[in-house]
Amino acid sequence: MASFKVNLVDTSPIEGQKPGTSGLRKKVKVFTQPHYLQNFVQSTFNALSAEKVKGSTLVVSGDGRYYSKDAIQIIIKMAAANGVRRVWVGQNGLLSTPAVSAVVRERVGADGSKANGAFILTASHNPGGPNEDFGIKYNMENGGPAPEGITDKIFENTKTIKEYFIAEGLPDVDISAIGISNFSGPDGQFDVDVFDSSSDYVKLMKSIFDFQSIQKLIASPHFSFCYDALHGVAGAYAKRIFVEELGASESSLLNCVPKEDFGGGHPDPNLTYAKELVARMGLGKNPDSNPPEFGAAADGDADRNMILGKRFFVTPSDSVAIIAANAVQSIPYFSSGLKGVARSMPTSAALDVVAKSLNLKFFEVPTGWKFFGNLMDAGLCSVCGEESFGTGSDHIREKDGIWAVLAWLSILAHKNKDNLKGGNLVTVEDIVKQHWATYGRHYYTRYDYENVDAGAAKELMAHLVKLQSSISDVNQIIKGIRSDVANVASADEFEYKDPVDGSISKNQGIRYLFDDGSRLVFRLSGTGSEGATIRLYIEQYEKDSSKTGRDSQEALAPLVEIALKLSKMQEFTGRSTPTVIT
Ligand code: G6P
Ligand code: ZN
Repeated sequence: MASFKVNLVDTSPIEGQKPGTSGLRKKVKVFTQPHYLQNFVQSTFNALSAEKVKGSTLVVSGDGRYYSKDAIQIIIKMAAANGVRRVWVGQNGLLSTPAVSAVVRERVGADGSKANGAFILTASHNPGGPNEDFGIKYNMENGGPAPEGITDKIFENTKTIKEYFIAEGLPDVDISAIGISNFSGPDGQFDVDVFDSSSDYVKLMKSIFDFQSIQKLIASPHFSFCYDALHGVAGAYAKRIFVEELGASESSLLNCVPKEDFGGGHPDPNLTYAKELVARMGLGKNPDSNPPEFGAAADGDADRNMILGKRFFVTPSDSVAIIAANAVQSIPYFSSGLKGVARSMPTSAALDVVAKSLNLKFFEVPTGWKFFGNLMDAGLCSVCGEESFGTGSDHIREKDGIWAVLAWLSILAHKNKDNLKGGNLVTVEDIVKQHWATYGRHYYTRYDYENVDAGAAKELMAHLVKLQSSISDVNQIIKGIRSDVANVASADEFEYKDPVDGSISKNQGIRYLFDDGSRLVFRLSGTGSEGATIRLYIEQYEKDSSKTGRDSQEALAPLVEIALKLSKMQEFTGRSTPTVIT
């Protein structure tokens, strides 16, 4: 058994290590500066109570992006030196974010051990490669992201750090081979357990969904399926689940080999970045002439999802509402009912209408999955989702891209259980349109202005807050722009009081609420790595089922015009068009 000793390395604080909505995300070149990663990891250990570190079991893995393999070796050595007892690593360092959450909650080591926490190495949907982004975040023993109390402490520690601990004499561990390596250090034995990246997750999915009924759907000659992992870590799960377990053909998988640079692409499952899938589904430029019935994509770390039907896009806000409306009948895990549902503030109110009609507890939380985790730990929420292509449930404490696909496949399987041979399948589009007919439709779009000058973004937001002091002035400005929109009834900056721990989160986005239920929301992204990203969310409710079939950009054009003029978007940012429209 190789033995190691502990080195104490002198260091000094490095600026800018404040974790954002989902951990610390920076360019690889920033992360590879001397001591950069080490400072953050030690600051995290120092932010945790001693018993969460000494003798603990820690998961370390991620989406496999560039620099992950080096980072894993560094973290293993620092964990050993800080007295961690075991580090669990997915084979080749790969674990999707939802799989990490599942592993923390479910996996039992060969010696009966359970994980206490996890370092997830990902920058999610941001591009990867030597000139792109890397990221790291810490998840707690419930499998969810560290709460603000901890991330604030981590940040404070990064500002005063003077030294970190790292093992000397501990060789690099071969993370490509499954098995346990043992080492000995000053605190006793230290193990690195390299395990199969997908088996715990697959087992969990099989306990939630009726795989047999999905198999039958996929086997139907009238159904066809396509999944795009955008070269992210979802590929490691897609083959196992969709092909090996559910019988889809290999050719239904696109970009399912994980790559360090995501094939040079932007691994974000939306209509702009998932171009190949979008064309395959008969949408966008150069659409395929014979698209499959169902298509889906994931982001780099496989927690996001995009759901498409044949020539049809399902907005994430509609997706969560439709899953909630159909969960009890279609998904065995929910057969005894939903404890409650929740959405993030900028997500459309489609879910609210379902909650009301099904008499379910409902919560509106700030952007960031961690807010759902508290509700779930308290047994208040079963299904939740965000406009940012995140959907999930209380089976784990992260959003879950593959879960969302399985949920949709379950709904399709349920709706089609009696007509799989007949040829007249209920399609994704049918399900969505039926939903609108029942609950009304929330026309919805999001405009993103990426990498805007940070000062200019702040000024724009300050301008919008200032405007809110007089609603009558706002309405006058609006009437001067167009006469065909409703009046603004109220406006505020969203603030949230967590019903479980009472914590208050302020300044979570600027809202203009119209008296017909329409909304304009402005927010600064918490996940960018350069400059500022302004997000503008535009929503309009249409209850009349004869008017729910319009093109959404066309239906929302009046509100878009108002939003851009009210915020003086071009004046502040110099941008005449958004970077991305979803
Ligand atoms: C990550 C988080 C989500 C959040 C999203 C928003 O994906 O996990 O919970 O909705 O970021 O990002 P933004 O860039 O809008 O802050
Ligand atoms: Zn992600």
